[in-house]
Amino acid sequence: MAKIRDLLSLLVCVISVTGSIVYDGRVPFSMQAAALNTSTGPFLTAVKGQNESATYYTEFLGHSALPTPLWNELGHPSEQVISIKIDNTSVFVPGGGPPQYGFRRTELIAQKNENSTLLDAEMEVGVSTFHFSIKSDLSRPLNYSHEYQIVFIEPSDGTHVFEIQLGSPFTDPTLTLPAANAHSFKIRDHALNVLFTTPFIPLIWHNFAITVDWDNLTLAVEYSTEGFPLRMVTPTVGNPTVTPGALGDFHFGVLKLPIVDPEDSPADQADVVHFGIQEGTTEGLFYSGVFVEKVS
Ligand SMILES: *[C@@H]1O[C@H](CO)[C@@H](O)[C@H](O)[C@H]1NC(C)=O
Ligand SMILES: *[C@@H]1O[C@H](CO)[C@@H](O)[C@H](O)[C@H]1NC(C)=O
Ligand SMILES: *[C@@H]1O[C@H](CO)[C@@H](O)[C@H](O)[C@H]1NC(C)=O
Ligand SMILES: *[C@@H]1O[C@H](CO)[C@@H](O)[C@H](O)[C@H]1NC(C)=O
Ligand SMILES: *[C@@H]1O[C@H](CO)[C@@H](O)[C@H](O)[C@H]1NC(C)=O
Ligand SMILES: *[C@@H]1O[C@H](CO)[C@@H](O)[C@H](O)[C@H]1NC(C)=O
Repeated sequence: MAKIRDLLSLLVCVISVTGSIVYDGRVPFSMQAAALNTSTGPFLTAVKGQNESATYYTEFLGHSALPTPLWNELGHPSEQVISIKIDNTSVFVPGGGPPQYGFRRTELIAQKNENSTLLDAEMEVGVSTFHFSIKSDLSRPLNYSHEYQIVFIEPSDGTHVFEIQLGSPFTDPTLTLPAANAHSFKIRDHALNVLFTTPFIPLIWHNFAITVDWDNLTLAVEYSTEGFPLRMVTPTVGNPTVTPGALGDFHFGVLKLPIVDPEDSPADQADVVHFGIQEGTTEGLFYSGVFVEKVS
C-alpha cells in the first residue's frame, strides 16, 4: 500500500503542477524561524497577538514532523511542517483600529519581496491554483462549538474570494453547539455558499487545491488525503459576487470567532470582531504544501 501511495504521489508531482509556481510557501529545511519575527521570508506575520513574537505563535517543525506526502518523497521530505497556534494573547490590533477582542487569530500572509500586494498582483490574474495541506494538532485541539476561518483570500473590503471554514457557524446563535457538521471542512465561495465539505480526520493530511479564474470569476475545488492524487470534487462554478479586479491577501492559519455573549447589547452581539466569548484556550493546526500555481 505504501508503495502504491509513493507511486501515486510521484505521478501527481509530475502531472498535477502544470503551471508555473508563482508563490512558494513550502518551508525548506534551510529556512530559519527568525524570518518569522522579521516578516522577511515568504510570510508576512503581522496578524497575531500584539505582545508576543511571531515565533511564539508559529513554528517550523524541522525533522520532528512529516509534511504532506503529496508533495514530499517518502523518507526525503523537502519542506518543514508549519505549526500555527492561538491562545488568549492572540488579540490582533490592526493599524489604527481597536483591538479585535472578539477574535483570536494567527495568520500567515503570502508575500514576495516583503510585499504582499506585489505578489497579489502576480498571482491573482488569469487563472491560478492555491494549494495547501492541513493536519490537526492533537495537542492543541480546536473547540468545534466555535467557528474558524482558516484559509482565505481577503480583498480590502473584508470579504473572502473563497474560504475554508471549520466548526459551528457564528451566524446562528440559537444552534445547538457544536453544529452537526462542525468537524468538517467547508469550502465556501464569496457569497458563503458551501461548495464542498469533507470531514477533518485526525492524523492525516488533507490536501486542497482551489482554482480561481480571476477574469471569469469562477472557482473549482480539488481535494485528496495524504499522498493520493488530487481529484476534482466540484465542477467549475461561478463566484459572481466577487468585485472584478479586487485582489486580496492570501491568508492561512487559525482565526477563531467568538460565541455570542447573551449579556451583550444586540449591536455588540453583531460585532463579531470586537465582542463575544472566548475561553482563551491554546489551539493549533499544522500546514504544509502551501504554494500557488499560475495555470494561465
Ligand atoms: C523571535 O523574537 C522573540 C522576541 O524577541 C525571541 O524571544 C525569539 O527568540 C525570536 N525567535 C527567533 C527564532 O529568533
Ligand atoms: C483572555 O483575554 C481577555 C482579553 O484580554 C481577558 O478579558 C480574559 O480575562 C482572558 N481570559 C483568560 C482565561 O485569561
Ligand atoms: C498588550 O500589552 C499592552 C501593554 O501592556 C496591554 O495594554 C494590552 O492589553 C496587551 N494586549 C493583550 C492582547 O494582552
Ligand atoms: C508593494 O507593491 C505595490 C505593488 O507593486 C506597490 O504599489 C507598493 O509601493 C509596494 N510597497 C512597498 C512598501 O514597497
Ligand atoms: C468550547 O466553547 C464552548 C462555547 O463557548 C464552551 O462552552 C466550552 O467550555 C469550550 N470548551 C473549552 C474546552 O474551552
Ligand atoms: C471564460 O468564459 C468564456 C465565456 O463563457 C469562455 O468562452 C472561456 O473559455 C472562459 N475562460 C476560461 C479560462 O474558462
